[in-house]
Amino acid sequence: MINVVFLGFGNVNSNLFKALHIANEVTVKQVFNRNYIKMISPFENIPFTDDISKIEEADVYIIGIPDDAISAFSESLPFQNKLIVHTSGGVSIDTLSNKNRRGIFYPLQTFSKERAVSFKTIPICIETENSQDLDLLRKLGETISENVVEISSEKRAKLHLAAVFVNNFTNYLYQIGREILKNEDLPFDLLKPLISETASKIETLSPEEAQTGPAKRNDIKTIEKHLHLLGDSPYRKFYELFTEELKHNYGKKL
Ligand SMILES: NC(=O)c1ccc[n+]([C@@H]2O[C@H](COP(=O)([O-])OP(=O)(O)OC[C@H]3O[C@@H](n4cnc5c(N)ncnc54)[C@H](OP(=O)(O)O)[C@@H]3O)[C@@H](O)[C@H]2O)c1
Repeated sequence: MINVVFLGFGNVNSNLFKALHIANEVTVKQVFNRNYIKMISPFENIPFTDDISKIEEADVYIIGIPDDAISAFSESLPFQNKLIVHTSGGVSIDTLSNKNRRGIFYPLQTFSKERAVSFKTIPICIETENSQDLDLLRKLGETISENVVEISSEKRAKLHLAAVFVNNFTNYLYQIGREILKNEDLPFDLLKPLISETASKIETLSPEEAQTGPAKRNDIKTIEKHLHLLGDSPYRKFYELFTEELKHNYGKKL
């Protein structure tokens, strides 16, 4: 049995908590959060504390708090030589205080507290400072995911960079699309099948093969019409930048 304590209870840890709580061979011993949280049904029996001095013994402590808070928080933990992991893609293992054994347990997915996800296909990127801890994290990861991979802090930083491009920026582009439709009283739902197919296509085609649209086709008149429609909109700069880049990418200079 692997005993786990969650430190922080935001988007990631609340989702990891739900998955590990029902996993075989894992016991969630406790949840710590700096502010009080009421554990709601069916989790009301999981011990909660907001007192850092009352954190219980565990095999693995999972820190799930904003990146910039990880260093100071790990330093503030009142115990030593335990396995402490964080869940960040972009933060090096060295950022954790070295008074404890350090590790990474980074689930490569986008998490929101109010949305449940299945961990089965989510890559869990692990890293530790010794082989026993690596075995333990691998075992823990495999209780919820079929894809546990050992990745160094350097490579994980690049992986996270790529993830920001494909998720955060793409999602912001959805926001722009929704805004443009909203101004015309058109529902965002009209774009959803396109968004779904764009994501599905890359299961069988490379992103380069999957690309369509006026920039790839070099449809100058359509591009000019779009720029006219954008006028002095703040979104114009993205349109111009992406169009230039796509034309360059497909070998058709403006
Ligand atoms: N969200 C994602 O999609 C995602 C995906 C993969 C990895 N990650 C990584 O997972 C980690 C957590 O991300 P998240 O989205 O779950 O964050 P989040 O929801 O913003 O985290 C909120 C939690 O952090 C606690 N917290 C905030 N500042 C703190 C501080 N200074 N000291 C102690 N606790 C503090 C909050 O406590 P209170 O309730 O008391 O405010 C709350 O429990 C980050 O390192 C992030 O890079 C995120």
